[in-house]
Amino acid sequence: MLKVAVVGASGYTGGELLRILALHPYVKVVAVTSEKSSGRSVAQVFPNLTGFYDLILQPLSPEIAGADAEFIFTALPHGTSVAPVAEFVKMGKMVVDLSADFRLKDPLAYEEWYGVKHADKDLLQNAVYGLPEIYRSRIKGAALIANPGCYPTASILGITPIIRNRLHNGERIIIDAKSAISGAGRSPALSWHFPEAHEGMEAYKPGTHRHIPEIEQVLSDIAGSTITTCFVPHLVPANRGLLSTIYVPTDYSGEAGDIIELYKESYHGEPFVRVLDAGRQPNIRNVKGANFCDIGITLDKRNGCIIVTSVIDNLVKGAAGTAIQNMNIMMGFEETAGLMQPGLFP
Ligand SMILES: NC(=O)c1ccc[n+]([C@@H]2O[C@H](COP(=O)([O-])OP(=O)(O)OC[C@H]3O[C@@H](n4cnc5c(N)ncnc54)[C@H](OP(=O)(O)O)[C@@H]3O)[C@@H](O)[C@H]2O)c1
Repeated sequence: MLKVAVVGASGYTGGELLRILALHPYVKVVAVTSEKSSGRSVAQVFPNLTGFYDLILQPLSPEIAGADAEFIFTALPHGTSVAPVAEFVKMGKMVVDLSADFRLKDPLAYEEWYGVKHADKDLLQNAVYGLPEIYRSRIKGAALIANPGCYPTASILGITPIIRNRLHNGERIIIDAKSAISGAGRSPALSWHFPEAHEGMEAYKPGTHRHIPEIEQVLSDIAGSTITTCFVPHLVPANRGLLSTIYVPTDYSGEAGDIIELYKESYHGEPFVRVLDAGRQPNIRNVKGANFCDIGITLDKRNGCIIVTSVIDNLVKGAAGTAIQNMNIMMGFEETAGLMQPGLFP
């Protein structure tokens, strides 16, 4: 069994890592960290995991988390990951980092969007962006994976076949995205206090959200030329789920069915991407708790626009599920190990 540590185990993505890893056939979790909940048991912090773990949360220190564990997931807020990840890598551990600290390849872009200088530029260059459907071969040999953000995951998977098949006419792509409140993490704040968020819906950080450079970095890499997006995220009063509605300008004059076939070919053999048939729209409900990205495609011929709707569970395919998928690839396990579960319905 692979011995694994989850750093930042008391948060939402940490809890999802523990939930999924509890049934993973090749993994044993040996260490879990939290600052505020140190000394408490996993079951006290996550009652849904009662009976699955006999572990006590302990404060983060490289020695503690690194001693027994061969593989480490870091699920910390951005800005706090660089130092511990660097220590773990130095100790020869394999790491999947769920924060944004190693996603942007250009340290100046990191500084511009995150407001601080990147503290380990060498390690940044060695990190591999861990979206398996795009970068699987690079992930295989990596020691450090930058796990993708939730909005980028749904958006990039939604757009990629259009870029690869040169159906985008080069004009600006618009991404209108909605996320459930768990996307903001477990720490309480006024904006996601129940009376403030329930029955409300609002855009936030239109055109300035930190996932913009991440989305553009990957799409530009796939296209081989600069792709720009107009990205507007919204907060919706649900616990989990994320929907990206993507408008891609096109000169394509064929049929919608042909584009759907291109998507099916593009994702043929991908275990976690489900391309829907014509006329069907994905719903966040259908991927709840699961590692799937469901994609629906419509061609709006009148406006010269391909409209893509892409849904994920932000905590699973948007975080913990992809992180475990990355671990499976890095370790040479079957990629679906521990992950092939249908979503909860309703
Ligand atoms: N939520 C999502 O949908 C989502 C999706 C994709 C990626 N992510 C990214 O994944 C990371 C974790 O997100 P989350 O939603 O799980 O956040 P969260 O619920 O706020 O959990 C954060 C975790 O980090 C720990 N922590 C916070 N500050 C720390 C510090 N200075 N030193 C050590 N531990 C510290 C917390 O422990 P204590 O508070 O118990 O001390 C907690 O275990 C973030 O970088 C986030 O951007 C989140």
